[in-house]
Amino acid sequence: MTLEHGVPEKGDNVACISKVMDVATVAVIGGGTMGNGIAHVFALARFPVVLVDTKEEFLKRALATITDNMRRQTAKSILTPTLMNEALARLKLSAKLEDAAQSDIVIEAAPENLDLKRDLFAKLDNICAPRTILATNTSSIPIASLAAATKRGDRVIGMHFMNPVPVMKLVEIIRGRATSDETYETARGLTLKLGKVPACSNDFPGFISNRILMPMINEAAWALHQGVATKEDIDTVMKLGMNHPMGPLTLADYIGLDTCLAILKVLEEGFKDPKYKACPLFEQLVSQGRLGRKSGKGFYDY
Ligand code: NAI
Repeated sequence: MTLEHGVPEKGDNVACISKVMDVATVAVIGGGTMGNGIAHVFALARFPVVLVDTKEEFLKRALATITDNMRRQTAKSILTPTLMNEALARLKLSAKLEDAAQSDIVIEAAPENLDLKRDLFAKLDNICAPRTILATNTSSIPIASLAAATKRGDRVIGMHFMNPVPVMKLVEIIRGRATSDETYETARGLTLKLGKVPACSNDFPGFISNRILMPMINEAAWALHQGVATKEDIDTVMKLGMNHPMGPLTLADYIGLDTCLAILKVLEEGFKDPKYKACPLFEQLVSQGRLGRKSGKGFYDY
């Protein structure tokens, strides 16, 4: 499948006074690493949230993670027990995509797979009211590729949260070619309501963040693969030498090695440039089930 991307027409990206849609209800699709964090921050910001995943066991795991993370925030006095309980009461779990129907905005956080996301966007387009904004948390897939699966390109946008969502301040907002000013301003306004900071990118594979981050992580994997140094030394050099809060291989384990591999493939295919070719270690580790922190093993054991 060809990936579509592009720069909005001149002037499209200039902030202008435009309507902002009222958002009262939110649906999050996918309760994994990112989806549970996104549901967490919206529930805390007083939005009723429906969290959708494919199986009850995944939903239970997501709720357990959200509860643990909120408890940790409570222990650090970031939250009170009352706020935590109120936020948890705003969360509804569902294994049916149809339960997203009543939401003003849907944030899709399913795995980084173009066909899966296109299928979800086509279904959501049929299920949701015409006014509903369909946002994606994709790390790299062009928004235009997902908008093309719907009949509402003006209401499709990227809202790329960072991991771990409750902690990280940035939301990268990606405007597709057809994204309306109203949709953009609504996504920006919501980001601010969550206490986060928006940064806007045009619609290119990997946007700003992963276009810059993934080649660094990939290079660290190549350095390990070619025997330049141990994983610990590679991470130490980047941590203490470059003042990064964590080394690139540790960060890759946080992101998920399957997700890193998927993003590198989108970059390579999207730009038709072999410089983005994933280090073979990613395929090897992923095929062994070493997906990073979420599976208990990645570059490191947890
Ligand atoms: P994950 O693998 O941890 O979670 C994905 C979840 O989606 C799983 O719970 C899975 O059961 C569920 N799912 C699969 N098919 C589904 C469907 N048809 N309907 C509903 N749920 C479905 O993946 P992760 O890491 O949370 O990534 C999600 C998205 O967020 C990806 O697009 C990824 O690129 C992006 N992202 C990931 C970051 C990270 O650090 N992991 C950072 C920023 C964005």
